[in-house]
Amino acid sequence: MAKNTLTVTDNRTGKTYEIPIEEGGVVRAAAFRDIKNGADDFGLMTYDPALFNTAVCRSRVTFIDGDRGILRYRGYPIEQLAEESNFLETAYLIVKGELPDQKHFRTWQHNIKIHTMVHENIKRFMEGFRHDAHPMGMLLGTVGAMSTFYPDAKNIFDLESRRLQTRRLIGKMPTVAAFAYRHSRGLPYVYPDNDLSYTGNFLSMLFKMTELQYKPNPVLEHALDVLFILHADHEQNCSANAMRSVGSSSPDPYAATAAAIAALYGPLHGGANEAAINMLMEVGSKDRIPALIKEVKAGEKKLNGFGHRVYKNYDPRAKILKKLAYDVFEVTGRNPLIDIAIELERIALEDEYFIKRKLYPNVDFYSGIIYQAMGFPMTMFPVLFAIPRTAGWLAQWAEMVRDPEQKITRPRQVYIGESERQWMPIEKRAEPTMREDAVSEAI
Ligand code: CMC
Repeated sequence: MAKNTLTVTDNRTGKTYEIPIEEGGVVRAAAFRDIKNGADDFGLMTYDPALFNTAVCRSRVTFIDGDRGILRYRGYPIEQLAEESNFLETAYLIVKGELPDQKHFRTWQHNIKIHTMVHENIKRFMEGFRHDAHPMGMLLGTVGAMSTFYPDAKNIFDLESRRLQTRRLIGKMPTVAAFAYRHSRGLPYVYPDNDLSYTGNFLSMLFKMTELQYKPNPVLEHALDVLFILHADHEQNCSANAMRSVGSSSPDPYAATAAAIAALYGPLHGGANEAAINMLMEVGSKDRIPALIKEVKAGEKKLNGFGHRVYKNYDPRAKILKKLAYDVFEVTGRNPLIDIAIELERIALEDEYFIKRKLYPNVDFYSGIIYQAMGFPMTMFPVLFAIPRTAGWLAQWAEMVRDPEQKITRPRQVYIGESERQWMPIEKRAEPTMREDAVSEAI
């Protein structure tokens, strides 16, 4: 009779072990610790750099089927949310698990809006950044600093405190992001306008000049809302993992969110749309695409905005954005990079190299083109990613905090360094040899 177990024979000892296969085809890595080569043996470890095939949690937030190009938040297909929902409602769904009814939505909206202001000292803190500071660096530093403004946030096992910090962070993120942008432009900071929608207010804090009330263009306001929905969560990626890993030592959520922002900063994650735009600008015209493809195939370059650890099919978010771009262009005028992007996609998707490796455009391939058309400088791109992703990070964090199986993250390593050596006085030591690892090279 079929059994949900895995039978493993250790050929070193001839012993056989039966390991349970849990729901979803999961085996517990800890089960391998029982497989020992002797009484003093540590037992087997699984080796998985970059956590390629290791589930680090059980989560109810986001479902991805990378082979079929499916993305769902709490069971709802991303296409439906992008078409029908708005960002604040989606954030509610992600954080609380259900879509709100009208009454709950009104309360949620109110609860977020009353937290859009920041302490004046946060403003002064931000004024201390250099005039040319990267807005993502400012966001990272300021969210970290917010930890000192809300000492009550350390009560992470208290539901009411978690709720309050969640509203504060979702409410204040656009304000800090907009201040970072205004700072880099040398413009006065604009305070929140709670008569506007979440994205309308964000646009106001970014772009308001001398008018009494900023009136966001409804097409651009809606486009930003869709972009925020698409970026609200993406299960266990690098930044969600940072949120959980740092959060596992129980700091307040501002510290953990700062860590997640730091993870998102890198060009392989939240910085990829900036890299994609740079690449498209470098290509400059369609006739230079074959030369780029040649360089990519020779391993000299990567096609930025292409490929994904999970999607081995078209990223469903990229599909939505490709369409959204044309709505935005109706208002902003066409971003000529779209033609290069579409041609690049066409050529790449017909090429054996990309087909074999299942490399498709990801969300970053088209998002930058839209942001650029809307007038955002490239340094703001990762910031625009971080604002909505805060909802996802907080949902992941709260799930982790409540999960009785979660403990402080503490990975194992395979030690490949020196075995024991004797310390020598400095005058007796031989000249140090150049080592392969980076730290030694830097010396
Ligand atoms: N262009 C050319 N070749 C690529 C690319 C690319 N963008 N991505 C992967 N490959 C090749 C890679 O060289 C490797 O080839 P080979 O088997 O011959 O060595 C193969 O495809 C598998 O790639 P990998 O690096 O093992 O894949 P990964 O899962 O470790 O990396 C990735 C995923 C997203 C970091 C990578 O595809 C990449 O660097 N893409 C460009 C950066 C980018 O667009 N990042 C945004 C990701 S989506 C936003 C998000 O969710 O954070």
